[in-house]
Amino acid sequence: MKLRIPVTFLFLPFLAAPVLATPPVLPGQLLYQKNCMRCHGANGKKGASGAHDLTKSNLNAFGRTYLVTNGMGKMPAFGKTLTAAQVQQVVAYSLTLR
Ligand code: HEC
Repeated sequence: MKLRIPVTFLFLPFLAAPVLATPPVLPGQLLYQKNCMRCHGANGKKGASGAHDLTKSNLNAFGRTYLVTNGMGKMPAFGKTLTAAQVQQVVAYSLTLR
């Protein structure tokens, strides 16, 4: 009996490879670009309007979630413009800037 391997199995590795090689884009990155970049900059270091350097921040996710939701000083509150899930995403992204 002749062994038959379906053609799709042979091509599967080639189809899957580019998908796996693309780094995941965090949804928070877009939210960050829209809402935070003007003060904190793309890399978190811009410091406009007295914004703190996010690469040096020791605030954990919990603290950041509170701060982004409620604001502080010149940092605006985003609790009304972003959903809780979006705040979580943008906070997660901000933590990658360290
Ligand atoms: C209008 C300018 C402005 C925008 C827009 C802004 N920030 Fe800020 N951010 C500030 C300022 C000013 C501070 C310092 C607040 C203080 O302590 O008085 C700050 C502080 C922070 C801190 C605390 C850093 C630390 O450890 O002290 C985090 C985290 C942060 N911002 C994240 C964000 C994120 C995430 C966004 C977008 C959702 C954002 N900020 C948008 C101005 C801004």
